[in-house]
Amino acid sequence: MAFRTAITELLHIEHPLLQAPMAGVSTPDMAAAVSNAGGLGSLGVALMAPAAIRDAIRSVRAKTDRPFGVNLFVPPWGDDGNSAGAPAPLAAFRQELGIGSVGGALPPWPDYREQLSVILEERPPVFSFCFNVPTPEDMQALASARIVTIGTATTLREGQALVAAGVASVVAQGHEAGGHRGTFLGKAEDALVGTLALVPQLVDRLRVPVIAAGGIMDGRGMLAGLALGAAAVQMGTAFITCPESAAHASYKKALAEVQEDGTAITWAFSGRPARAVRNRFVAEMAPHRQEFLPFPQQRGAVAAIVQEAAKQGRTDLMQMWSGQGVGLLRPRSAHELVLDVVREAEEARATLEGARR
Ligand SMILES: Cc1cc2nc3c(=O)[nH]c(=O)nc-3n(C[C@H](O)[C@H](O)[C@H](O)COP(=O)(O)O)c2cc1C
Repeated sequence: MAFRTAITELLHIEHPLLQAPMAGVSTPDMAAAVSNAGGLGSLGVALMAPAAIRDAIRSVRAKTDRPFGVNLFVPPWGDDGNSAGAPAPLAAFRQELGIGSVGGALPPWPDYREQLSVILEERPPVFSFCFNVPTPEDMQALASARIVTIGTATTLREGQALVAAGVASVVAQGHEAGGHRGTFLGKAEDALVGTLALVPQLVDRLRVPVIAAGGIMDGRGMLAGLALGAAAVQMGTAFITCPESAAHASYKKALAEVQEDGTAITWAFSGRPARAVRNRFVAEMAPHRQEFLPFPQQRGAVAAIVQEAAKQGRTDLMQMWSGQGVGLLRPRSAHELVLDVVREAEEARATLEGARR
């Protein structure tokens, strides 16, 4: 029997399963495949120029007539970085990769106002976001465009701030989650609450449906999220190895070898905390945290290295976001993954019901 929840009603989807928006990894093909399978596919467009965002949204629309989401990083991002110095290992990494001291500059960071304007014009059914709360004017504009808003919280206080701003739903992001932490109030180190503890505390205290995220990889995880009171689950890491993913081939291959203790939260790639595979780059940069630049400048400082590392297939120096559920990865198409996870959740529910009798 299908799972009907406040989120399946709100978003007009069949299954309470959202594919996480993943900047640099999610694609129109992935989002459309997930939506066509009855979940909610999402595009992480934070790194994209406004014109590219418009094209991506139109590309999803050409592949599905089902609802889908689009996701941005909402500024201001806070200043977590300290100095303008380049941490010592960067020069050594450059030398090792043979890229000298210059090159690899990133294009300017896309303008959030222009990105949001495209979203307001194109009107995807869902807009999700992380890193902050949009201004009251922007929330009003999104409501007028009839776009459903979903914010990201890593603590109850953040969830309450999002609800006060008028979001329709809150993603409760546990510390198991791959990629950037959404934390925007207080210190990220204090907001490392696991999914199992975080979700029910938000469910009990927020008056909007909560979406569980972090470490959910299969039907057992989906059912657990729903049992905690979440109205849906959001899965990111599970989709990285899908054929529709834009992740580099070496990144996909490397994830197959990583286990539950192989990731860490690091500031080294962007200046904001994010969970990534604990490779040599993460380990050797860790002692230099005080020298990192704030987000997103740190990203610029390391861009040449991680790009060249990807080109050379050097997974010891690549940026590879991953959640702690990585050992449960099962590469398959995004469409199959959604259907398999939902079927497994239904089977797990039936098993539990059988055990009760
Ligand atoms: C590769 C990758 C990229 C991500 N990019 C974004 C993003 O652009 N926007 C966002 O709100 N969350 C992003 N996230 C976080 C996810 O929304 C979600 O919180 C996380 O994937 C859930 O944990 P899991 O990876 O264990 O499933 C990203 C996660 C991953 C793994």
